[in-house]
Amino acid sequence: YGQYEQGGQYGRFPGARPRRLRTTPAVRRLVAETRLHPADLILPAFLREGISEPVPISSMPGVYQHTRDTLKKAAAEAVAAGVGGIMLFGVPEHKDAVGSAGTDPDGILQVAIRDVLSEVGDDLVVMSDLCLDEYTDHGHCGVLDARGRVDNDATLERYAEMAVVQAEAGVHVVGPSGMMDGQVGVVRRALDGAGHQDVAVLAYTAKYASAFFGPFREAVDSSLEGDRKTYQQDPANARESMRELALDLAEGADMVMVKPALPYLDVLRRVADAVDVPVAAYQVSGEYAMVEAAAANGWVERERVIMETLTGVRRAGAGNILTYWATEAAGLLARG
Ligand code: PBG
Repeated sequence: YGQYEQGGQYGRFPGARPRRLRTTPAVRRLVAETRLHPADLILPAFLREGISEPVPISSMPGVYQHTRDTLKKAAAEAVAAGVGGIMLFGVPEHKDAVGSAGTDPDGILQVAIRDVLSEVGDDLVVMSDLCLDEYTDHGHCGVLDARGRVDNDATLERYAEMAVVQAEAGVHVVGPSGMMDGQVGVVRRALDGAGHQDVAVLAYTAKYASAFFGPFREAVDSSLEGDRKTYQQDPANARESMRELALDLAEGADMVMVKPALPYLDVLRRVADAVDVPVAAYQVSGEYAMVEAAAANGWVERERVIMETLTGVRRAGAGNILTYWATEAAGLLARG
């Protein structure tokens, strides 16, 4: 910075004044490096079977297990706010060892896909969670072997069936989230084999065995005891994510995701720098709950913190963000 650093030609110090570009909202807006747009946001939503009123999720104030009617309403509101997509989860009435409801053509997630499509058509990208944990009585993301361990390859067969059933229901994008080895490849092959070449795969590439998924377990009435540490990644590892990334891309992932978001911004940045496909991040249930709880106590300014977290995730390299605040944040962005 030379002479400006020294005080410029008139000798006044400091010569360099970055604050000039922070003086008014207009100049700050002009020089902002990171912009959020409603279309970047994806709303995760839960449809629960057999209820007539939406059920509030106590650890996620403002988030509900939807009825068919309220899910359609939420989808319509998301479209009106300009949100880019919706990620659907099903909460079935009956769970069993193999997660049968996940591959039932009339299972609750397939109902959710058809309902949302009938409401919003192609105005919203409709995505579905492709995993067994919502449907299994033991709560694991796969089927178990005789010794009670999650059986990778037997689970892949279930995922292949799920992919086809979800595609037949009309979904645009499937999101395999179980962290089984080979899941992207098996899903891609199953979709292609059934004539669903147009259905895209959003790979949960770097998904960590995170305590931040806690509130989600309530959201899907999970029966899990124990943890998912034999299939989800160890929070200590970042390099390992690059291996998962290479495998997912080789297996045909159209988009990749890092999850959770805030505690893994370094991983997000590494992934974003390494790929030429769209990158998403999932701001998970525990991230949502933390902010809502602090805000409810008056400890942080709710809306500012929400937008700051989303901006941080975007800045770290996510093109798309899955967030339970999607519709609200889109509204805040429109307000400016
Ligand atoms: C698996 C799945 C989970 C989440 C999304 N997909 C739960 C898990 O892996 O334990 C968590 C999302 C959140 O916490 O918001 N079906």
